[in-house]
Amino acid sequence: MTAAEFHTLTVGSVDALTDDSVAVTFDVPNELAESYRFTPGQHVIIRAEIDGEDVRRSYSICSSAASGDLRVAVRRIDGGVFSTFVNTRLAAGDSLSVTPPTGEFVLEPDSSNSMHYLAIAAGSGITPIMSMIATTLEEEPDSAFTLLFGNRDGLSIMFLEELATLKDRFPARFVLMHFLSREMNTIPLFEGRIDTGKLETLFSSVVDAESVDEWYLCGPAAMVDDAIALLRSRGVSDAAIHQELFFADRDAVRPAPPVAATEEGSVVNFTLGGRTTTTVVPTDGAPILDYVLSVRRDAPFSCRNGACASCRSIVLEGEVTMDHNWCLTQEEVDAGQILTCQSHPVSPNVVLSFDI
Ligand code: FES
Repeated sequence: MTAAEFHTLTVGSVDALTDDSVAVTFDVPNELAESYRFTPGQHVIIRAEIDGEDVRRSYSICSSAASGDLRVAVRRIDGGVFSTFVNTRLAAGDSLSVTPPTGEFVLEPDSSNSMHYLAIAAGSGITPIMSMIATTLEEEPDSAFTLLFGNRDGLSIMFLEELATLKDRFPARFVLMHFLSREMNTIPLFEGRIDTGKLETLFSSVVDAESVDEWYLCGPAAMVDDAIALLRSRGVSDAAIHQELFFADRDAVRPAPPVAATEEGSVVNFTLGGRTTTTVVPTDGAPILDYVLSVRRDAPFSCRNGACASCRSIVLEGEVTMDHNWCLTQEEVDAGQILTCQSHPVSPNVVLSFDI
């Protein structure tokens, strides 16, 4: 992975999904079609200058890989700079900078597969799952998909119509269950959040968990953690569990203000795009990413909260500590990879590379 490579894409359409979310479809020119081919579950990083600020966010692609469309969904978050911009100001014909698709929370479709996939999603965590469901049902004729989808109420359900259409097209291979936390249901099982108790009840009644080959979990940390613990206790191997965290407030994080250069701290040498640069980073201050950006504006980043891995680098020398890590695997951490937006130097000298 090297520094994020942005291309300018034209917005083809902005379509309302709910009162507070829209789907944005990009026009991808023929010469870039190969670069924007994606695997279901991947995301793009979108960059815009909003009121003078360089704002970047990662958004999962929600369209079917078979469709060839590049489409993301954006829910407006209170105080969210980017999501408010997209929901209130963005229009067809506008241009945005967009990276090619990336990410490892994926479902690789294979027409010879005969699988049962089960996804547990909540809120806007449906976006990567939406792409997986649509692609799988279209491209794997012998596979089935079960979706357990949690939302606040009926009006807040993203892709309500699209999911119903898929259910109509593939009635024998797509099982869809909605769970609403703030709306009464004649069947109590479908009321409330998706938590351990709810999943235990489902697995002992209407969901045949034993037949599931691959599990996809996407939503807030509490839901994902509960589901993982339960699946492990039932003997599901980690290799069959795929997870991605979606924070309700992940767009509420504004870009950090530029940090001032300092002479107090660790000397951090980093390679980015083949070029090595040096900066000094305090051990107890802002994260390494902020100091890297103060000397190299081309450094990759997106969420700034440890959830997207855009800012990933590898420690070649020295020691760092991370505040949070919501996306690197233990294997990647053991190999020395870090999220620079969450990392602080510990040793007096640190050598990093973003060119992984
Ligand atoms: S910028 Fe997303 S994990 Fe660091």
